[in-house]
Parts: sequence; C-alpha cells; structure tokens
Amino acid sequence: KRSRPNQQQQHHHHHQSGPAPNLSTRKELYERDFPVYKQPVEIGCFSLDSERRFFNDGRQMRYYVEPERNPNFDLRDGYKDRYIKRDGNVKEKLDHILRWILANKSKLCSKGAAASPCALDFDFVTWRGHLTKLLTTPYEMREGWLLAVTRFKGTLYISEVETEAARREQENRTERHEEMMYWGYKFEQYTCADDVHSLPDPGGVVNTNEAFCTVVQTRLADHRLLFSGEVDCRDKDPKAPAPPACYVELKTSAEICTPKQRSNFHRFKLLKWWAQSFLPGVPRVVAGFKDDEGVVVNVDTFPISKISQLIKNEHNCWKPTVCMNFCCDFLSFVKQIAIEDHPRSVAVRDDAVQPFFF
Ligand code: A3P
Ligand code: MG
Ligand code: MG
Repeated sequence: KRSRPNQQQQHHHHHQSGPAPNLSTRKELYERDFPVYKQPVEIGCFSLDSERRFFNDGRQMRYYVEPERNPNFDLRDGYKDRYIKRDGNVKEKLDHILRWILANKSKLCSKGAAASPCALDFDFVTWRGHLTKLLTTPYEMREGWLLAVTRFKGTLYISEVETEAARREQENRTERHEEMMYWGYKFEQYTCADDVHSLPDPGGVVNTNEAFCTVVQTRLADHRLLFSGEVDCRDKDPKAPAPPACYVELKTSAEICTPKQRSNFHRFKLLKWWAQSFLPGVPRVVAGFKDDEGVVVNVDTFPISKISQLIKNEHNCWKPTVCMNFCCDFLSFVKQIAIEDHPRSVAVRDDAVQPFFF
C-alpha cells in the first residue's frame, strides 16, 4: 500500500513541461556493485533537552552500561506515572538541523564569514531517518512515505511530510501499541547512564523530548551528504574509538522462539536496524528481546558489519547493495527534479509509481 501525496500540503505549484521522469522501486533494478559510501565523519552534534530546546553541544549524551545477559527488565514500569511523551503533533521538519548549521556556519561555509548566506559544500541536507526510509524502500510493502525537497544555493534540503495513512495510523493507535512504544525508551533507561561514572536510574522519568544527535558528513557516489541522527548512547570506555565508532544503538524486539520468528527477525527487523546504523557509521546494535508482558528476557549485541553474513542463509532476503543503490539513484533523480533554486519552491514526491509534481 503506497501513499498518495496530499494536495493541501503543497507549498507552491509549478508545472513541468514534457513527460514526468520516474523512478522504479523494484529491487531487481538495484542489484549491482555496492556504490561508494565514504566512512561517515562526525562534524558536530547537538542536544534537545526535556523541553525540546536546542543546544549546540553534547549535553544529552548518555553512556552505555552493559546489562546482564538475562536481565528481566520490566519495560512496563513507569508507563502510567513516570513518562513524559514528546508531542507528536509538533512537526519540527529540518529545524534542529538548520539551527545546527546556523550555529556552525563559520566552520561550514566555503566563502568565509559573509553577511549574506554562503553556499554549503553539500548536495543534500536531511535527517538520517529520512535516508533510512529511502534505503528500505525496495523492500517496504506496507508503509509509504512523502518527501519534500527544496534547492537553496545549490544544496537540496529533504524533509518528510506526514502521509494521510500515517496520520490515520497515529490517530487509531491502540492503548497496547501506545504502551509498547514506551518500552523501547524504557529499555534505554535501564541500559544508559547520564555520566561516565554513574549507573542507569530505572526509577527516573522517561522523557522522550530529550535527545542527543550526531551530525555527520559523508558521500554516496557523487552525492555529498550532511545529515543528523539521534544516537542512543556511547561506549563509556575513555579508550573507545572516536565518534561515530563509539556509538551504540539500542533496540528491543520480540523474543525469538521459533524458526519462523527468527526468519522474520532477519528479514524485517535486521533490515531496519542495519539501514539506520550503517548510514551514520554506528558499529553496533544492542538488542533486548522481550516477551509479551514487556520483560526483557535476553540481551544480544549485533555488530553492523556482521549483519550481511547473518542474513545470508535466508532465502530471497534483502541486500545492502539494493538499499544503497536505490538511495543513490533516488538522490540523482531528486537532483534532476528540483531545479529551481528558490526557498519557496518545493517539490513533493512520494514512493508510488506515478508522476511527481511541484
Ligand atoms: P525500539 O528499540 O523498541 O524500536 P530508536 O530505536 O530509533 O532509538 O527509537 C527508540 C524507541 O522509540 C523505539 O524503541 C520505539 O519504542 C520508539 N520508536 C522509534 N521509532 C518509532 C516509530 N516510527 N513509531 C513508533 N515508535 C517508534
Ligand atoms: Mg534512539
Ligand atoms: Mg534505539
């Protein structure tokens, strides 16, 4: 089920003459050599506090504290009385990344500190999460997406627009689903400390406004990218490698009891985990496997570099090269589409096989 663009969300209307170019999402078309993807380099970070205020520093960084293998963490604890949930109705778009760019423009600008805005040495600015969705598109049969792009001084800014389907899904969430979304954050609280020398505080409040985000620079084929992504925590060992190699992504997943469950985990979960962490160069995912009652029954580490080996035994499984080649071709496609360099000109494109529009 692919989403359709919402006409009301268009900012500006332009009409393109001639046939509309298109891009297929069929995975067979992207099975070629892995494209060049440069080692992502962290060029900065920022933090969002308990009230979602922006800070141009790493104050919200947390430190990973390895749990026992069978910790029996109760992820339901605190849902009713120690949970402050971020307001999902506030659409932040690229705002925090743009704040970071403004706060760091002297080190980013190629033409020195001019009074007027100078050009950035990047082709694309976006959130890591948007790129993750692009990477998984050839394999995603359920959730569609809608992306808006604008060209400003040669740089393309890509931001997500909520689809009608996503909005309905959010409105019709069950209480069970709502609670299960808390479980992932509760797992983070059990495994993260605020300081290098302190321990996790499972008695505290879970506030999902708080975030630490890395800003990375990399290149996919001929696309120079600047993106930001939320990072759960880092290795607390002072001898750990520099960011992003010291970062740890935390995940929860349903306990695996049958071969079918293992296969689904490889096919669907590991695809999303791989895409999310591979992009910013986060080397490992620590997974808490939970039962139906929200108890973490075991914890396992998945090095990102080992995931492609892990899935090799699955028949007809996803391939990293397909993900990266699709993303690369999509970005080339966007460069062709979003020609007009004007902040009020926005191209909106969805993942359905249909003409795009401005
Ligand atoms: P899980 O690890 O259980 O998925 P992230 O893993 O990206 O750091 O996100 C932390 C938690 O936020 C997730 O824990 C999940 O509970 C919640 N979450 C993330 N993305 C979500 C989404 N698209 N919809 C609902 N919940 C989401
Ligand atoms: Mg996170
Ligand atoms: Mg996580």
